[in-house]
Amino acid sequence: MDLYEYQARDLFEQYGVPVLPGIVADTAEEVRAAAEKLGGVVVVKAQVKTGGRGKAGGVKVAKTPDEAFEAAQSILGLDIKGHVVKRVMVAGGARIAQEFYFSVLLDRANRSYLSLTSVEGGMEIEQLAVEKPEALARIEVDPIAGIDAAKAREIAVAANFPAELVDKVADVFVKLYEVYKGEDATLVEVNPLILDEDGNVIALDGKVTLDENAEFRHANHALLEDKDAADPLEAAAKALDLNYVKLDGEVGIIGNGAGLVMSTLDVVAYAGENHGGVKPANFLDIGGGASAEVMANGLGIILGDPQVKSVFVNVFGGITACDQVAKGIVGALAELGSTANKPLVVRLDGNNVVEGRRILEEAAHPLVTLAENMDQGADKAAELANAA
Ligand SMILES: Nc1ncnc2c1ncn2[C@@H]1O[C@H](COP(=O)(O)OP(=O)(O)O)[C@@H](O)[C@H]1O
Ligand SMILES: [Mg+2]
Repeated sequence: MDLYEYQARDLFEQYGVPVLPGIVADTAEEVRAAAEKLGGVVVVKAQVKTGGRGKAGGVKVAKTPDEAFEAAQSILGLDIKGHVVKRVMVAGGARIAQEFYFSVLLDRANRSYLSLTSVEGGMEIEQLAVEKPEALARIEVDPIAGIDAAKAREIAVAANFPAELVDKVADVFVKLYEVYKGEDATLVEVNPLILDEDGNVIALDGKVTLDENAEFRHANHALLEDKDAADPLEAAAKALDLNYVKLDGEVGIIGNGAGLVMSTLDVVAYAGENHGGVKPANFLDIGGGASAEVMANGLGIILGDPQVKSVFVNVFGGITACDQVAKGIVGALAELGSTANKPLVVRLDGNNVVEGRRILEEAAHPLVTLAENMDQGADKAAELANAA
């Protein structure tokens, strides 16, 4: 889960990372009041989960509360890379002398942590990595040892910080690592980390990604979740414990096992090329125990997506045999009644497939078409979606 900048700022503050005061606001009036409260120069910053806000006009300096009000009017509602700004943070204005870059992240490929650090901050890191790779220090961080004072100094030296700044920034690196470790993050990034004109090192921006697998140790992380911004179908699926990801197409997909569902997405996208370019509408893995209830929950979510025009159920019977899955589908359709209103193509294979098909044939539900195999099922589902 990615956090908003203001949430990262709050976490940084808790861990003693130097940050500037920040007040979140949802209206231009609130921004004016926040600017009055902070006093002096402030910066109004769009709170959206994407980078490059500055370049997109989402970060504006304001010298007076009235200017802050105007800045808020131009930022609220702004579309930044598909994210519409609903909230801003009014931050204290820094007098920047220098901008640096620091991050620590999970390095999956090397089963380790990695710190990326540069004295040339401000620029987007992807761009820096391409244009000036020598300016970016990549230092492996042992997950057991972490970043202690000595490691932090090693990082600062490797990144070419001037000698008089090494201890100062190293202290901040240690604290940022404490955020990373203490919160079970997979990324803590500060761009820019600055030196201000009074010689203070300050985290001026913050990006934190929390590891959802560690949610069980952080009851407070649930509070950071942005329920409004989450896709409503994804939120409903999550509440039902379904492994669902909303996509942009017309063919609803249900399968068992992540691998099978992924290949089903590919096959449907391919079949769609012959049928008006229809695409998969979602990823949904109902897992091994496809009971009638799980099937009904899954179908309910998919049919609740107004973009869906047909559904492709692609199940390989294993521990839960095909007859159980077939009963699940029949039960789910009975349970859903008239809410089941879009054609369903069902492909079953594997354990007890003959009995499974017999059950579906006998039920003869008017919306259900049985497919011989995966390719044919995908083709039929794409054809039905295109015709709808
Ligand atoms: N509180 C602040 N005071 C002064 N300048 C700021 C402040 N916050 C951001 N900036 C300036 O705006 C730039 C972009 O802001 P930043 O928070 O990094 O957003 P993004 O990375 O999304 O563009 C920073 O590099 C910095 O130069
Ligand atoms: Mg930034």
